[in-house]
Amino acid sequence: MAGSLDEIAYKMCAGGKGLLAADESSSTIKKRFDAIGVESTFENRRDYREMLFRTKEAMEDYISGVILYDETIRQNAVDGTPLVKLIEAAGSIPGIKVDEGAKPQAGFPGETITEGLDGLDGRLKEYYALGARFAKWRAVIDIGSGIPTYGSILANAQALARYAALCQANNIVPIVEPEVLMDGSNDIDRCYEVTEWVLKEVFQQLFYARIRLEGMVLKPNMIVPGKLSPKQASVEEVAEKTVRCLKNCVPSAVPGIAFLSGGQSDEEATAHLDAMIKLGGLPWNLTFSYGRALQAAPQKAWSGKPENVAAGQAVFTHRARMNYLAALGKWSAEVEQKQAA
Ligand code: 13P
Repeated sequence: MAGSLDEIAYKMCAGGKGLLAADESSSTIKKRFDAIGVESTFENRRDYREMLFRTKEAMEDYISGVILYDETIRQNAVDGTPLVKLIEAAGSIPGIKVDEGAKPQAGFPGETITEGLDGLDGRLKEYYALGARFAKWRAVIDIGSGIPTYGSILANAQALARYAALCQANNIVPIVEPEVLMDGSNDIDRCYEVTEWVLKEVFQQLFYARIRLEGMVLKPNMIVPGKLSPKQASVEEVAEKTVRCLKNCVPSAVPGIAFLSGGQSDEEATAHLDAMIKLGGLPWNLTFSYGRALQAAPQKAWSGKPENVAAGQAVFTHRARMNYLAALGKWSAEVEQKQAA
């Protein structure tokens, strides 16, 4: 697939389309399969992902690109067609997760640093040859007592910047993902404060690393209270605070921002995105890059049974369409119900 970095970065987030994060590592997909009683074998992982990538309406009309894991970018469908070719045939762009996970950061109890920079240049060249036109690297920042620290934020921002530089040097659009987790008991304002701090540092390090902002995509968390917080927030509050935080931190040269869902329910993730678009006046395209919020429902409907493939695809199409409508500011609870019926 031809196209400059800038064109690809723009296309990934434009027109209501968004990204399918199907880049679960072997241990993460095992957790998801355990939940539906399916054994995580090479064949089951192939069958599940083939089901998604062959969902015509979702892939052609709502999904601009798919983030893959190393195994999947090399895997063939049952009939021998590379899975990457199924994605391309639908007009969607294949991408690849290139980080090697968040590991305990020495000297920083409770904090992590994402690994995977060694040898990355060579791996990016190989992934390009396999069809990847964008990549993803996820930094993980937890909120807790005394954390995050500046030392951890800085180390993670520098790693993101070095990753992004290697991607752009290899003609691959970097998705820069600094995820502030929503697992704790903190309130929404603490999430705002930490996310703002992290994004300020990330863009500073991207500048020092000479990243071309027009040729990247940001994948942030939304500004939400921690799951254990006694004080939950309305859809309007999440939308208003997320947009305010992003406007304060993300230069308008960045063409697109694609949110992670991070453990929000399917419908929350959709409603929040829709409410942000309805606020209007945004300098970048805002869309989705959901993993769980796009896949939980199809996983359940499929449950590893070949006779459930059509049902799994119908549910995936519905979820993708709801998020597409949200990214256009055209979603409503009514349309959600009507489509589900
Ligand atoms: P979730 O939407 O499930 O948070 O996954 C998105 C992702 O790619 C996290 O790295």
